[in-house]
Amino acid sequence: MPGARITGWGMAVPEKVVTNDDLSARLDTSDEWITERTGIRQRHVGGTTSQLGIDAGRRALDQAGVDAADVDVLVLATTTPDATVPGTSATVQQGLGVAGGAFDLNAACSGFVYALVVAHGLVSLGARRILVVGSETLSRITDWDDRSMAVLVGDGAGAVVLEATDGPGQLLGWDLGADGSLRHLLKCDLGGYLFMNGKEIFRHAVRAVVDSSTAALARAGVTAADVELFVPHQANARIITAASQRLGIPAERCVVTIDRYGNTSSASIPLALCDAIDTGRLRPGALVLLSGFGGGMTWASAVLRWGGWRDREATRRRS
Ligand code: UT7
Repeated sequence: MPGARITGWGMAVPEKVVTNDDLSARLDTSDEWITERTGIRQRHVGGTTSQLGIDAGRRALDQAGVDAADVDVLVLATTTPDATVPGTSATVQQGLGVAGGAFDLNAACSGFVYALVVAHGLVSLGARRILVVGSETLSRITDWDDRSMAVLVGDGAGAVVLEATDGPGQLLGWDLGADGSLRHLLKCDLGGYLFMNGKEIFRHAVRAVVDSSTAALARAGVTAADVELFVPHQANARIITAASQRLGIPAERCVVTIDRYGNTSSASIPLALCDAIDTGRLRPGALVLLSGFGGGMTWASAVLRWGGWRDREATRRRS
């Protein structure tokens, strides 16, 4: 079966930055509480899910040197679509000029990893190029007078281009899971605002990340000690610390971007991945663990062997 590799990546965040002090000025909260309890210092707010997705997607395509007209499928992970119908992927498809199919995928904060695994499945069915986007505007479904949610969320998008390769594929192992009996812990009814039982989600989140990561690593035939870079969902710096400690992954191997972006749901892992690549933290051949969790509850992990984009030209010439 053909494998796939990430050959391009890109991100987009709205210009407007909201700091903890901005929030403290209008809510009964403080920079100290938010920083200590969550690790968040600021977040970007604004834009639309479709436009952020288009901006991140275009950057990923440019970086890969792939024409949107040559993309077979666009998968847009989002839990904050522009509308109920049509899918926001339709707007992103048109905005980018993607020639192939396009669909939305909602697995809450696990959405990007779900989409990445689904995209690999499509490659194994013969697709050559897939654009995977995670884009969110959680600010639109947040009650900005509710301090328990307002301090947590941010908006943004990240995208990767996945190309079929004749060489070994990058995906070594994966794990997808869900437990709908916990869906009351994190929800947003139609037309309503986000609600979360933070303490309960926290407890389940650490276990979900540890168990799901362990399952994906086992499927890949590797251990946590082999992980060179851990890219977890950015919901709370304390969750990242607790999960990585239990997995035995040292802090210097974890990517933490929550301080700058807050919780951006399905955009958080691709934003963190882009940050790691752009700051030179990912060397070719490195073993990368992605792990997300969120409303549903859902969880998803993927183990990748990073690199191989240099054979992209050769792969494209053959296709
Ligand atoms: O991405 C999807 C998944 N989401 C998550 O994984 C989030 C998981 N949960 C969490 O990250 C944490 O539970 C929170 C950051 C949401 C909350 O932190 P916590 O340490 O669990 O705080 P808490 O809810 O137990 O509240 C502790 C205290 C309470 O006051 P009292 O009862 O001790 O007097 C809260 O009223 O902190 C108070 N509090 C705040 N104080 C200042 C709650 N929110 C705030 C706030 N500013 N924004």
